[in-house]
Amino acid sequence: MKTIGLLTSGGDAPGMNACIRAVVRSAIGKGLRVFGIRDGYRGLLAGTFEEMGMRSVGNILQRGGTILGTSRCEEFKTEEGCRQAADLLRRREVDGLVVIGGDGTFKGALDMHERHGIHVVGVPGTIDNDVTGTDYTLGFDTAVNTALEAIDRLRDTADSLRRVFLVEVMGRRHGYLALYVGLVGGADAVLVPEVSDDIGAMCQAIWDGLARGKRSSIVVVAEGATAGGVFKIAEQVTGSADDIEDIDTRVCVLGHIQRGGRPSAADRLLGSILGDAAVDAILSGVSCHMVGRIKGQTVMTPLEQVVSEDRELPMDLLELMRRLST
Ligand code: F6P
Repeated sequence: MKTIGLLTSGGDAPGMNACIRAVVRSAIGKGLRVFGIRDGYRGLLAGTFEEMGMRSVGNILQRGGTILGTSRCEEFKTEEGCRQAADLLRRREVDGLVVIGGDGTFKGALDMHERHGIHVVGVPGTIDNDVTGTDYTLGFDTAVNTALEAIDRLRDTADSLRRVFLVEVMGRRHGYLALYVGLVGGADAVLVPEVSDDIGAMCQAIWDGLARGKRSSIVVVAEGATAGGVFKIAEQVTGSADDIEDIDTRVCVLGHIQRGGRPSAADRLLGSILGDAAVDAILSGVSCHMVGRIKGQTVMTPLEQVVSEDRELPMDLLELMRRLST
């Protein structure tokens, strides 16, 4: 093993740069050459490789996003795209590839390994925390803190004006982010895709609270929670509460604001540990695995398992959130 490639793919996540820095510095320290591949799998197909040095990753630990750029590349998902990418890696004499991203990123890496024998190691990076084989993914902790700050601010307005706020957070088809944000933000309810809630009962609980003199209510809604979306739920909350007049409801969609910004200490630490571990894994001949951290230990999980298993929502935390909100 002499040369490795490194790319970030899918949605950017805070902490990716800490991981890039760790991969580059660990690999060079262990005698490897590192090619940074621009814009994820799109850059791999276009052959945009750049050799990275110790200095090229200076002063990036504190930056959000990814200095390598990223993409969601449809062409790479085709059989031909995958073959072209593998050919390019061979022509450039890249012996192993580290990919930082989520589910989709790992599916691509698995294909390259299974169809073309490319030596790949994955690092979990997505704000959604929807990947098995690790307690946390890069970017999740920062995104929770960013959404939490927004909720704390919204609560000032909600309380001042006696309002109900529905706050939509990201997470694609998963509710991990919404659950954490709801629990630590003291929400009255959290709606997640994994659980089909009785919206009528939730509305009634909010109305009862307001009737008892509560000044505000915060409901955190995962973007994939309901078919009709957060605005539809807002209509239901405003709906027909017989005994309360003028329920003042507002919707706030946090959107991509949750994804950017300075990585938290936890994400910088995770990125540094996993980047270093990915280099060790690749050097010791491990392939087609993802490095993750479970209960403070670095662990390897086969990519096949990572892409086929759905991450389960911690139902005990949902229960806790519900008990504490009453
Ligand atoms: O996977 C990360 C994520 O931020 C999801 O939470 C969200 O659904 C999606 O990416 C948004 O993707 P895009 O930036 O391509 O619109």
